[in-house]
Amino acid sequence: MKRALVIGESGGIGRAISKSLRARGDEVVGLSRSRDLLDVTNETSVERSLGKLEGTFDLILVATGALVINDQKPEKSIKSLNAAALLDQFQVNAVGPALVLKHSIRLMPRDRSCVFAALSARVGSISDNQIGGWHSYRSAKAALNQLIRGASIELGRTHPLACCVCLHPGTVETTFSADYGKSQKRTPAPAAAANLVAVMDQLSRKDTGGFFDYAGKSIPW
Ligand SMILES: NC(=O)c1ccc[n+]([C@@H]2O[C@H](COP(=O)([O-])OP(=O)(O)OC[C@H]3O[C@@H](n4cnc5c(N)ncnc54)[C@H](OP(=O)(O)O)[C@@H]3O)[C@@H](O)[C@H]2O)c1
Repeated sequence: MKRALVIGESGGIGRAISKSLRARGDEVVGLSRSRDLLDVTNETSVERSLGKLEGTFDLILVATGALVINDQKPEKSIKSLNAAALLDQFQVNAVGPALVLKHSIRLMPRDRSCVFAALSARVGSISDNQIGGWHSYRSAKAALNQLIRGASIELGRTHPLACCVCLHPGTVETTFSADYGKSQKRTPAPAAAANLVAVMDQLSRKDTGGFFDYAGKSIPW
């Protein structure tokens, strides 16, 4: 049996992953903003919520994130860039998961393998960007990728068996994608969760610092 911590358990993907882990007998501690007042953009809140936890976890998953914040929709053009919306995106999608990682290190075992995974998005890949648009969300996810990559290098020194990665879940049927994923095939959340759990189960130390999709395929930065 494994012990998992899921941050953002109220979300479509977070909830489905917790359910899938519990169904196979793992112990899951789930935290969320709406239920537990864990706001990832507020370090005091992150510190307070994670500070209450004891012991170590085999898996820590950050499943928080947002595409639309304060009614600001993803930009179709750089001409519609709005500084406040750009900063909101960085707060939620980059700063938030990084603060969770900062306060999760004490919850990671040093003497055995463990996984820290943050849900990123393929659109955060700079080299994969062929169509532009969604500037704030894309750049916040690119920043998240860099933060996770950098932290993975440091973690390797103190937690030699840890694997710290970014994951792309695919286009998943959740509130998040309700207005934006219609042109693409959307995967139901339980199936997306099963895919991600299978990927996380396969991760090991050699994968640390990587960016992987729902099939375990490496995504270029
Ligand atoms: N769905 C997709 O197609 C898709 C595609 C690519 C990447 N992703 C990524 O996958 C992740 C999860 O997406 P989802 O589809 O599950 O979205 P979702 O159903 O909208 O859930 C979003 C989750 O993020 C939490 N959250 C948002 N802002 C927060 C904050 N400031 N502090 C704490 N929690 C916060 C929400 O908490 P509350 O509800 O409790 O407020 C909720 O648990 C996101 O990072 C997203 O970028 C999703």
